[in-house]
Formats: sequence, C-alpha cells, structure tokens
Amino acid sequence: MNAPTSVPFARRHLLRIEGLSAAEINGLLDLADSYVELNRQVEKKQSVLRGRTQINLFFESSTRTRTSFELAGKRLGADVINMSVEGSSIKKGETMIDTAMTLNAMHPDVLVVRHHDSGAVELLSQKVDSAVINAGDGSHEHPTQALLDALTIRRRRGKLAGLTVAICGDVLHSRVARSNIHLLTTMGIEVRVIAPPTLLPRFIDRLGVGVFYDMKKGLQGCDAIMMLRLQTERMHGAFVPSIREYFRFYGLDKEKLASAKPDALIMHPGPMNRGVEIDTVLADDIDRSVIREQVEMGVAVRMACLQALLVPAPNRAAKVERLRTVLFGP
Ligand code: NCD
Repeated sequence: MNAPTSVPFARRHLLRIEGLSAAEINGLLDLADSYVELNRQVEKKQSVLRGRTQINLFFESSTRTRTSFELAGKRLGADVINMSVEGSSIKKGETMIDTAMTLNAMHPDVLVVRHHDSGAVELLSQKVDSAVINAGDGSHEHPTQALLDALTIRRRRGKLAGLTVAICGDVLHSRVARSNIHLLTTMGIEVRVIAPPTLLPRFIDRLGVGVFYDMKKGLQGCDAIMMLRLQTERMHGAFVPSIREYFRFYGLDKEKLASAKPDALIMHPGPMNRGVEIDTVLADDIDRSVIREQVEMGVAVRMACLQALLVPAPNRAAKVERLRTVLFGP
C-alpha cells in the first residue's frame, strides 16, 4: 500500500483547534482516514518521515496519547524519542523552557508536548525551531483528541454536519471538551454541554453550544454522547456533593441513554472512571460504545497530523518523485 499523499496545511504548529477552518479539519480527517486501513495491515511501516526526529515531551501522565504518538511516528518511519518528566532534569529544577532549548539544540523536527499549564505548549513553540504539536495543555486544548473523536463519528455516521453531539460531565476542567466544541461547531454539528453548573465554565454558551443541567433533557435526539472524567487533579475544593450522587444525576446509565437516539454512539476519551461518569456495562457495550475505536483512530489521526506538519505541500511528494525519476530513472 502506498503512503497516502499529504494535505495542504500551511501551519508550523498544531496548538489548538480554535481557528482551524472546516477545510483544514476535513483535510486532516481525510488523510487520517486513509491511514486507518494501513494500520490494520500486517506491514504498517511507511517512509514518509524517514530521517525525521520526533521527541515526545510529556510533563503530565498519559497512556493513549503518548503511545499513539509514538506508534504514529514510528509507522511513518521517524526516529521517535520519549521523554517524561520522571527521570529528566526537570526533577533537578530545570525550567520547561530550558529543557525545550536543550532538546532544540539536538535538531528535532517535531516536539509533541503535554503540559499541566494552559498556554505552556504555545509558549514553548515560540522558543524552538521545530514544529510543535499540543498533546494537551492544562484545561485549554487537546487538538488531536478532538480530531480522533471527529474521525470516529464521521466514519460511523458518514458525515458530521447536521448531527447533534452532547458533551457531558466535567466540561470546566476539560481540554477535550474545549477542542471538541471548537471542532464540532466548525463542522456544522449542534453541540450541547450537559453538567452541573459547578462543572461548566461561565459564558460557555458564547462558544455556540446549548447548555443543559439535566441529562435526560440534554440527551434527547443526540447522535453521539461524549462522557468526560471528573478531573479531580485540577480541582481545588469540592465541585460535586459526592461520587454516588454525581453518578446518579450525571453518570451515563441505561435509563439516561434511552433519551438519546436509539443508535447514539457512546464515547469517552479515557481514562474512564467506571461507576463515576459511566456505567461499566455501557462502557463495554459493543453495540453502542466506540471507545476502543476512538483509540484506534488516535493512531491514524496522529500520523496525519505529523505528516501534514512535516510534509505539508500537496505537490511535494510528486516533486520529489519527479526529481528521483530525473536523477535515477523511472
Ligand atoms: C484526556 C486528557 O488527558 O486530556 N485523556 C486523553 O488524552 N485521552 C482526558 C482525561 O484525562 O480525562
């Protein structure tokens, strides 16, 4: 199978979904879509990024995002290095920027960065020469998560525009929610947020979403339901009375799910807290839950993002091919 051709993506970094056009998002999704099949083959290796160096720099813990960025880079032929804060000089008091500058001196082509502070990844991107991908910054954005969610929905439903999607739970602390709100509204989806008032940012309605405090009302007629984890690590103080009460009113169970469309997709970015925001039986319901598919789409989407940033011009592959033919014959 030949490597899918890249898409025009005239940006140096991928820091946020906010500001991306529908055409840019569609381009990334199309490219990612073409990688899904490739990822299901026995032989997955491509050479699109051969000779390129990718450093994954994670200041916060991660399972899915870090592993899939690593796989994505390797499947495209890049040299991938993982750096976590544990075991790095950050533990010796080095600042994030000094760490970034040190890595920069080794000439990476792309840095994939996750940080607990909103805005930290953008700051870092201003100091380095390489492309930077935001793998999640504080409660701000997590662009590749929103792209993989969109790809999952688009493959299942065959379209995005005209659908209704509910984002439920801890919207206040969720970068996944913010990126998804920007992406889904840009693509013509009706977006609803459903949460207790304590877990919604003020003025959230200004982002063009419908606001609901009641799950059954909010879920009515929804095509997809995104459940969010209570991000206790970002909470200072009590935002919900108790876990049991939270599950009763906001946890997705069979009864609440019955308000959505009969074939509504159940989604979760992971990690899940079973029995807190989602009933364990629903999480594993193979007819409704697409949670594992989201993980699969994550690799394809990250391959597309790496390629779009590092091999952006649509004609570049063709030009290289022409040059190769001139130099070495057909
Ligand atoms: C999310 C994150 O880290 O923002 N997880 C992920 O990337 N798949 C959501 C979360 O931590 O709850």
